[in-house]
Amino acid sequence: MQKELSTEFTGLKFVNPFVLASAPPTESKRKILKAFEAGWGGVVTKTIGLHPVENVAGPKTIFQRTSEEKPYVSRNKRADTVSHSSWNWELISDQPLELWLPDLEEIKTTYPDRMLIASIMAGAGSEEEMDNWRKLATACVGVGCDALELNLSCPHMDRKDMGANVANDEDIIRSILQAVTSVVDVPIWVKLTPSTSTLVSAAAAAYEAGASCISLCNTFPSLPLMDPETMKFEVEVDGLVTSGGLGGLAILHQALQRVSDISRAFPDKSISGIGGIKGFREAFNFIVHGAGNLQICTAAMEEKGSGGVGVKLIQELTEDLSEYLQRKGYASIEEFRGAARERIVEHSQVRRKSDDYNGGYAKSA
Ligand SMILES: Cc1cc2nc3c(=O)[nH]c(=O)nc-3n(C[C@H](O)[C@H](O)[C@H](O)COP(=O)(O)O)c2cc1C
Repeated sequence: MQKELSTEFTGLKFVNPFVLASAPPTESKRKILKAFEAGWGGVVTKTIGLHPVENVAGPKTIFQRTSEEKPYVSRNKRADTVSHSSWNWELISDQPLELWLPDLEEIKTTYPDRMLIASIMAGAGSEEEMDNWRKLATACVGVGCDALELNLSCPHMDRKDMGANVANDEDIIRSILQAVTSVVDVPIWVKLTPSTSTLVSAAAAAYEAGASCISLCNTFPSLPLMDPETMKFEVEVDGLVTSGGLGGLAILHQALQRVSDISRAFPDKSISGIGGIKGFREAFNFIVHGAGNLQICTAAMEEKGSGGVGVKLIQELTEDLSEYLQRKGYASIEEFRGAARERIVEHSQVRRKSDDYNGGYAKSA
């Protein structure tokens, strides 16, 4: 029998802590309904916005693999490969808000016990953009969304007032949260970019301004690889490419470090962990660093025959977590959440063979 997997996170009841992240698996009503049928505890919708969106005239995502024999990373098909990462330069949803709203309402009515989180995005620096945030928030909550996730982290935006380009600017984070919390009364999750050195201060600003949770990581800004024979990038349009986002196993360790940084700075606050989760072991690692909720994208997209929503993956995740809780005698993930927190220390706090080392500083006499 499955051990009780339900969790309370940001005041919401999840039947299990596994959520499909904002991305192609959650880009349509059809896919979200299929995901809930498969057993996902929640979904964060593909990001919804009000500005014009047109994707590049070519593939938007590639899946990169590596092998034991000549273990280079490539999207090229080779025998006996394993997944390394996804790379994408896909923009936010091109489905307009007006079409999303009836879909969101139907999804929530069909699966009232599953958490439906709308990811939204607008710009910054003007009242007009704050109105856009307010409009998106009010509309999504009005049709029954349980929470909102503010996308402040998309790594490939031309607009300098959006996504990762706002680079965790604390004033912008505060102004957006102020706008959104003034019109809705649901938990607000804030998805920050991992690619700044000011992540902890940005998280502080978000929590102080009313965020219920920090979601991270979004994909890491990165370039696709060039093939030495053809001189082509593995994804390009007319020979051109731009910075896109790396996801999947390749970002796991970096994502964990970001989650740990925030979790140690704010042990009482909520974190939704994202980045490279492929199965229970990766999810476990996010939980011991303090995450109370897990989001998954690349691994679901990679599962063949699942329509990109990870049908087998969610079964495995729930079965493996349940078996682990049972075997260890834990009532829920809360019993081991944050277990690694106090074991992450400054380099100099890790024992040396002698007692003389002072973190690279000369010891005063
Ligand atoms: C093709 C693709 C599209 C994505 N679109 C969005 C998006 O619209 N909004 C967003 O917040 N994150 C988006 N993401 C980022 C994912 O939600 C997630 O943060 C990231 O992929 C890391 O998780 P993973 O390692 O499980 O893939 C996208 C990722 C991919 C691969």
